[in-house]
Amino acid sequence: MYQLKHNFSLKSNNTFGISAIAKHYLTVDSVEDLIQFFRENNAEKNEKRLFLGAGSNLLFVTDFEGIVIHPEMDGIDLISQNEDIAVIEAGAGVVWDYFVDWCVGNGFGGVENLSLIPGNVGAVPVQNIGAYGIEAESVIAEVKGIDMDTLESKSFNHDECKFGYRTSVFKELLKERFMVTSVVFHLSKHPEFHLEYGALEAEVSKLGGQTLQNIRKAVISIRKSKLPDPSKVGNAGSFFKNPVVSEAVGRALKNSYPDIPVYPAGPGLVKLAAGWLIENAGWKGRSVGKSAVHDKQALVIINKGGATGEEIFELSGMVVKDVLQKFNIELEREVLVIGN
Ligand code: EPU
Repeated sequence: MYQLKHNFSLKSNNTFGISAIAKHYLTVDSVEDLIQFFRENNAEKNEKRLFLGAGSNLLFVTDFEGIVIHPEMDGIDLISQNEDIAVIEAGAGVVWDYFVDWCVGNGFGGVENLSLIPGNVGAVPVQNIGAYGIEAESVIAEVKGIDMDTLESKSFNHDECKFGYRTSVFKELLKERFMVTSVVFHLSKHPEFHLEYGALEAEVSKLGGQTLQNIRKAVISIRKSKLPDPSKVGNAGSFFKNPVVSEAVGRALKNSYPDIPVYPAGPGLVKLAAGWLIENAGWKGRSVGKSAVHDKQALVIINKGGATGEEIFELSGMVVKDVLQKFNIELEREVLVIGN
């Protein structure tokens, strides 16, 4: 089934709660209907596209003069399993945290550290979501979808997805072209737990020991203590990426600022904590108009109510400028900015 609407308000379709308008808005719940719609509607096929899941990682600075496509492909299927691995396929429209809960409930490990990340399954490989030491690429075996230029079904194996830190081929080369319709995961029936990150291990032992359920509960409780709930306060999680710089740059910063967190990030590289840089540039908790830098996690920008996309974008620009001035590091936005 599909449904097409025109001049559609996206206010409830982006977690920043920005009142942007889409020229066209298409919801579709099967691959066949998606292909059929675009075969029959050439005008819409030639419009600029935006694939929009839960809208939890983007900022509308302007209206969208094109077609927004919202995949509602549903379903979680156990495709096969052996003693060690369960192969699970989930539709692009499945709510990610519902999927995590389902996996944990069935004893399948690999996604428990990614509990409570807002968004739908379709965005998971695009963005290669990550948290608490785990990135989605560690469990993604295959990504299925449609090449919107040719309307052909295509499938990408793990290597073809070209995953990187919060990125993939779908966010770069195939942006606005390849629409994810389902994702195949390889989950473990004998999970290894990853508790190295921050306060996770302590939180898990408070709950009584290492189980998938306890890791899920611990991650949820840590996230709730730091990150604003998008159903209450408009936000899109981390607004910026953690910058990756050379070891030499990392060392120089450490000399000047001994407290700065610096993590290894591959040969010759280190990752800095953008939240620390923003806080130490004086921005934590600071408001500009109706937007603000979150007071518990400076990497998050919030809509205090009624902010426009432009206001939020401007605030982010001020943060970039001050961090650059103070630390000579240029922050890169992690959220997709539409219309700047
Ligand atoms: N920090 C500060 N001040 C702040 C925030 C952080 O000094 O206001 C310091 C912390 O003390 C810590 C370091 O920065 O030493 C890292 O902070 P945190 O553990 O909160 O994680 P993060 O690097 O800021 C990343 C992800 C989050 C993910 C957490 C946990 C990115 C861009 N963000 O944040 O992902 O939940 O790690 O794994 O990689 C998201 O992508 O939307 C997101 C929320």
